[in-house]
Amino acid sequence: MTTPRKVALTGIKPTGIPHVGNYIGAIRPALALAERYEARYFIADYHALNSIHEAARLLDLTYEVAATWMACGLDPARTLLYRQSDVPETFELATFLMAFTAKGHMNRAHAYKDAVAKNEEAGRDVDAGINMGLYTYPVLMAADILLFDTHVVPVGRDQKQHVEICADIAETINHVYGEPLLVVPEPLIEEGGDVVVGLDGRKMSKSYDNTIPLFAPSAQLKKLIGRVVTDSKTVEEPKDPETCNVFKLYRLFASSEDQAALAERYRAGGMGYGQAKAALLERMEAELAPLRERYTALQADRPALDRHLAEGAERARDVAAGTLRRLRRAAGIGARG
Ligand code: TRP
Repeated sequence: MTTPRKVALTGIKPTGIPHVGNYIGAIRPALALAERYEARYFIADYHALNSIHEAARLLDLTYEVAATWMACGLDPARTLLYRQSDVPETFELATFLMAFTAKGHMNRAHAYKDAVAKNEEAGRDVDAGINMGLYTYPVLMAADILLFDTHVVPVGRDQKQHVEICADIAETINHVYGEPLLVVPEPLIEEGGDVVVGLDGRKMSKSYDNTIPLFAPSAQLKKLIGRVVTDSKTVEEPKDPETCNVFKLYRLFASSEDQAALAERYRAGGMGYGQAKAALLERMEAELAPLRERYTALQADRPALDRHLAEGAERARDVAAGTLRRLRRAAGIGARG
């Protein structure tokens, strides 16, 4: 008998075309994880609604996420991919969880606390611009997670607290009803994950305006790599790969043999940064060009994306209905028949 694989689930907030930092830091590791876990990845459109109130934009962003993940190699036949709003059980569960969620937890949640702190700094009312969606964000997130018997939640460090709150809610419910109704999840933080440097050598981030868009066409990619900051050593001088931004990016896309070979050329001298940049461009093109092509094709066929998402939702709702049935029964909610 084979033991069923553990469930890994994560939500992706639709926030725009991803950059190379998102790909290396989140997408590529999540796809690798899907090889070892039963993976369930969804587009958190109701989470995005807290801050995006333009319909066309929210819809576009949602399709962008679906197309991005499929372009990067997510196989919807193996990995469950769905849109949060297509699984209405999520919102019933969120209401259920409210009854077991300490208000104090919400007061202490980082996203909410940060918004309050910003208001205080600006001398505004503490509640200015804060809606209940932001305040209760961790409850909706807990519903996403608990609905699917999730064992591990791969997230960035900033989301760790939200997963801990979720685990706390699950434990409370299991304790109250005296049976293991809900799987208690754990956050899975990529330790020592690759830090991706941006064009200026700082961490690649939208807020530093130093990113390389994941699907940049070849010409733009070439131009951006040309802008990667290097020191002013002459061609003849030996160079240090460890401190070079070009090499740091090369490392993320090259095999260890290729890394060693390029490092050797750095140390030997006689190679200019232009050549290193050409090597980087070649490696990035090799990995990213097929993704870019798939992304363009997927985006051109929204009905096909809709079909994939609808299939995902159907399978997701099957699992979700089972969890809700279990909880309703234990809590005395609904008819017994
Ligand atoms: N809060 C997550 C973020 O901002 C997105 C998210 C929503 C999520 N629901 C989730 C992540 C459930 C993991 C599990 O990135």
